[in-house]
Amino acid sequence: MCGIVAYIGQRDVVPVIMKGLHRLEYRGYDSAGLAIHGPSGLEVYKRRGKVSELEDWVQDKNISSHIGIGHTRWATHGEPNDVNAHPHLSPDGKIAVVHNGIIENYESLRRHLLAKGYTFRSETDTEVLAVLIADFQKEHGFDLERAVRMALHRVVGAYLVAVLSTDEPNTLVVARKGSPGVIGIGDDEFLVASDATPIIEYTKRVVYLNEDELAVISDKGLTLKNLKNEQRSPEIEQLDLELTAIEKEGYPHFMLKEIYEQPKTVRDCLRGRLRANEATIKLGGIREYAEHLNRAERVVFLACGTSWHAGIVASYLFEDLCHIPATSDYASEFRYRNPVIREGDVVLVISQSGETADTLKAIDMVKERGGIVLGICNVVGSSISRETHEGVYTHSGPEIGVASTKAFTGQLAVLTLIALKLASERSTLSAMRLNQLLRDLDQVPQKIEEVLTQNDHIKAIAEQYAKVKNMLFMGRGAQFPIALEGALKLKEISYIHAEGYPSGEMKHGPIALVEEATPSLFLCFKDGNYEKVFSNIQEVKARKGKVIVIGEQGDAELEEISDAFIGVPAIDPVLMPMVSVVALQLFAYHMGVLNGRNVDQPRNLAKSVTVE
Ligand code: F6R
Repeated sequence: MCGIVAYIGQRDVVPVIMKGLHRLEYRGYDSAGLAIHGPSGLEVYKRRGKVSELEDWVQDKNISSHIGIGHTRWATHGEPNDVNAHPHLSPDGKIAVVHNGIIENYESLRRHLLAKGYTFRSETDTEVLAVLIADFQKEHGFDLERAVRMALHRVVGAYLVAVLSTDEPNTLVVARKGSPGVIGIGDDEFLVASDATPIIEYTKRVVYLNEDELAVISDKGLTLKNLKNEQRSPEIEQLDLELTAIEKEGYPHFMLKEIYEQPKTVRDCLRGRLRANEATIKLGGIREYAEHLNRAERVVFLACGTSWHAGIVASYLFEDLCHIPATSDYASEFRYRNPVIREGDVVLVISQSGETADTLKAIDMVKERGGIVLGICNVVGSSISRETHEGVYTHSGPEIGVASTKAFTGQLAVLTLIALKLASERSTLSAMRLNQLLRDLDQVPQKIEEVLTQNDHIKAIAEQYAKVKNMLFMGRGAQFPIALEGALKLKEISYIHAEGYPSGEMKHGPIALVEEATPSLFLCFKDGNYEKVFSNIQEVKARKGKVIVIGEQGDAELEEISDAFIGVPAIDPVLMPMVSVVALQLFAYHMGVLNGRNVDQPRNLAKSVTVE
């Protein structure tokens, strides 16, 4: 949610910031801006719209500097317009601020500053911070670092902020609480960004900002301090990220590239962990708490959105394979209930970004109640990976398309590994069944490859249905969360209204929607629910509803009854979610493209949801 990039060094800052903002645009894209130190003080250029619009606009303005801050916005306070876009200036024009996060007490701070005679131009929470910093400078003569620190002591909320001041034109101050920030250290240059993607082009040496930490970066170098003014020496890490991982590499969209990467990303996820020949699973990320998990009396999965769907699939797997009571809950609901966490419970949180605000808050709550929290994350070093007791990375690589695809199959792969490991520890599966599942799991990447060969066929089906207004997605068992995921993908990418249901619920309401203009998509596999789902399909057909079916390749009967059929390769039903979902991702992708949508940056969405 919002992306920040800042630079200080020898280069012209404008192209560095523009390129960085393009890389961060997946985090928010309703307006963009930058501030630089110009010949006569701070210059701010900002406007509603995409980064490319800002870039075109500033092109002929002939601006340059060696220091600057930039921002791409996902609006929280105030509609997306030129005034509410960041950076925000203090009324005296001496302080410029970009901010990712939310200032929860901004109303009271605003009232306090209004009473002191300050005025505001925007409706944002961020402008309050710019004014507050300027006020500390004016009233107490503080330098920039101290003024920022004092202002942040007054702030309740979450932030990554980058601040410039006319009094110190060679200094950049950044600070973090609850929103990630990375500092890249080059030769005589520093970059700061919300994630590493704007940095890798210039340097692979980075320092991750800690919680409640402030960095002062100037021509004298980098100083890190916490908000209590205690210094720490920077721990420089080497980025494990290649530029190609964040480029489209010939694909028309990141989403399509990421869908096609799945055979590789699932392989990467299993590599070194699954040893199918030896029938073993090694999970380096869960050691100290492995026994807790082995003895767990209940497992609770917490997540939001697509990751929550992975949690539902996992809850079915854990009950089926490990005989552990398991539930999956929205983190945003869980934290506002009064949930019971007992000794012997293990909570697994699932998050691609590792920054989702509700999931982070749910972790705090579980920890406060004495629970053990394990994380399944994609982004290495993210807040969730740090806040959980232990965890397993999905190793799916950067996911730039806003709609999650490869991160989801990565989550399913990790959750399946954990479930099978646990089943082995708890002896809840026969050795024969366990070994077969391990061998089949090893085959998943290949099965996904086979689904990808159907891309043209899936596109042709999407062409037939591209203009529908509503769709139903249905499945049973572990295919029910996949139906939910298919519906979510379709609505976020194409803006077509779609609902996911367990097909057994169809007669309890959704069947009222069935008519020729509202197609139903069924997931129907030979998994013990086959006859039931088949009957549901017939019931829809009997009411003249069009039916798209995803089933096993070669299922002639199913193909016969469907208006459109997508056959995917057979695999054990326990593993089928990782395979069937790929067909749904391709379907949603083509529906989005055929409807002229920006599938990588769908309206109103942002990749990492760092506000509640
Ligand atoms: C949908 C999607 C979102 C995320 C959700 C949680 O395609 O990507 O629903 O799954 O916002 O995000 P993470 O996994 O980063 O916690």
